[in-house]
Amino acid sequence: MDGTVKYMFDAKPLAVEAHLDPHLSARPEPTRVKQVWSVGGGKGGIGKSLIASSLAIALARMGNRVIAIDMDLGGANLHTTLGVDLPRQTLNDFLKKRVSSLDSCVIETSVPRLGLISGAQDAVGIANLPPHQMTDLLTHARMLDADYVIFDLGAGTSFNTLDFFLASEIGLVALLPEPTSIENGYRFIKSAYFRYLYNCPHLADIHPLIEAAMDPKNELNIKSPSELFREVSQSYPDMAIRLKKEIETFQPKLIMNQARTQTDIDIGSSVKTVSKKYFGIEMDYLGFLEYDSCVWQAVRRKKPLMLEFPNSKLVSAIEKITENLITRYGEKRSGAPLR
Ligand SMILES: Nc1ncnc2c1ncn2[C@@H]1O[C@H](COP(=O)(O)OP(=O)(O)OP(=O)(O)O)[C@@H](O)[C@H]1O
Ligand SMILES: [Mg+2]
Repeated sequence: MDGTVKYMFDAKPLAVEAHLDPHLSARPEPTRVKQVWSVGGGKGGIGKSLIASSLAIALARMGNRVIAIDMDLGGANLHTTLGVDLPRQTLNDFLKKRVSSLDSCVIETSVPRLGLISGAQDAVGIANLPPHQMTDLLTHARMLDADYVIFDLGAGTSFNTLDFFLASEIGLVALLPEPTSIENGYRFIKSAYFRYLYNCPHLADIHPLIEAAMDPKNELNIKSPSELFREVSQSYPDMAIRLKKEIETFQPKLIMNQARTQTDIDIGSSVKTVSKKYFGIEMDYLGFLEYDSCVWQAVRRKKPLMLEFPNSKLVSAIEKITENLITRYGEKRSGAPLR
C-alpha cells in the first residue's frame, strides 16, 4: 500500500504513519479540533455544499469555532454557498507551498466564529493529490484553531475524495431521492468502505482480496462487502474476526436531500436497510431535508440559506440534524495524538 494516511472512522482517531513522511513526527500535536465532519455522496449537484455550509453555520451559531474547507479540488464553490467572494488566498496556496500553514488560508465569513478555507480554483492537476500532500493537508487541518472542521467534498469516488471522507469522525452521505443519486450513493459507500479496509494496516494480509473487491470485474466475483467477508472467512478464517471488527466501526451517516414526499423520505430508510442487508454496513439515517425553493433564492443572492431564510423548515431541519450529531457523536473526540 502506498497511502500515507491511516484512516479512522466514526469517532476513532486519525493517525498518520509518520514513517512515510518523517518531518511530520516533529510537529506539535493538534489540541483543539474536536472533530472533522465531511459531506460526500458520489454525485454532483446533490446538495453537498449546501449541507456542509449549513452545518458549519449551525455549529458556529452554537458557539463553536468552525472552519469549513472546500475539498472539492476540481470545482470549488463553497465560498458562494457561504456568501463570500472568492478570496485571494485559497487551499491552492497551501498545496503549492506558497504559505507554510493552512491557518494563513483561513478567511473570516460574515458568520461569527465561522472561517473558510476556499477551494483551489486555479490549480490544474491538483484534483489528484499525492499521498504525502494528502497527509500534510489532513495533518494541518487537525491543527487548525477550531472546534470543528467541515470538509465539503467533490463529486465522484476518487481516492482523494474517499480519503477525506474516511479521515473524518463523521462522514455524511448526501442523497437525492432519484435513481441516479441512489446508485452513485451506493457506489460511494461501497468504494469508501473498500478503501477504508484497504488502508487498515492490520488487514494487510488480505490486501489482494480487498484489491480484487475494488475492481468491479474481479475474477473472484466479489461484488459487495458481505461477499468479501465470505471470501475472507473461507480463505483466511483468522482474518475474518479482524475484518468483522472493522466492518462494525464503519458507520457513515445518511441525509436525504430535496425530499418532496413521504416516499422520498422512506427511501433513506430503504438505503439503510439495503446497506445492512447486502453490504453488512450499518448506516445512520439522520433524516431528510425537504425540497425548498428558498435554497435557489439564497444561491441566486449569493447568501447563505441559514442567514437568508432563518425561519424556514429547512433551516430548522439542519439545526436539528446538527444537534443530533453532537448529542450522539459529538463527544467522541480524536483521542490519539498524531504519531
Ligand atoms: N433542499 C434543497 N431544496 C432545493 N434546492 C436545493 C436543495 N438542496 C440543494 N438544492 C439545489 O441544488 C443545487 C446543488 O446544490 P449544491 O451545490 O449544494 O450541490 P453539490 O452536491 O455541492 O454540487 P457539486 O457536486 O457540483 O459541488 C443548488 O444550487 C441548489 O439550488
Ligand atoms: Mg459542492
